[in-house]
Amino acid sequence: MKINLKVWRQKNTNTAGKLVEYQLDNVSEDMSFLEMFDVLNDSLTRKGEDPVTFDHDCREGICGMCSMYINGRAHGPQTGATTCQLHMRSFNDGDTIVVEPWRARAFPVIKDLMVDRSAFDRIIQSGGMYR
Ligand code: FES
Repeated sequence: MKINLKVWRQKNTNTAGKLVEYQLDNVSEDMSFLEMFDVLNDSLTRKGEDPVTFDHDCREGICGMCSMYINGRAHGPQTGATTCQLHMRSFNDGDTIVVEPWRARAFPVIKDLMVDRSAFDRIIQSGGMYR
């Protein structure tokens, strides 16, 4: 399937960001959303361009590190699933997908789709979660 992407690109916390358009022509519906981003980044790297920075860890729906805003929804269109558990079969050939970082004052963008999650650490250290 063909996918048009509009991805938030931002060099660092102190620079303005913008949506940049990319087109991928051979996306398998069986790819996870993050695998689709791996394909995009391979293509950017081969062209000598800066790959898109995004957070991920387990890729198994456990850690929550892969939080992206996809078409205006946290983790995208599939209710109850993290971004890494979202598959491209949830989209249609020719779709335009807008991908933005988790936008909150407490979580400033570090680069592209990666945000500073240290506010979570401070909450956990103060005993504010998991009680
Ligand atoms: S990478 Fe761990 S939940 Fe998605």
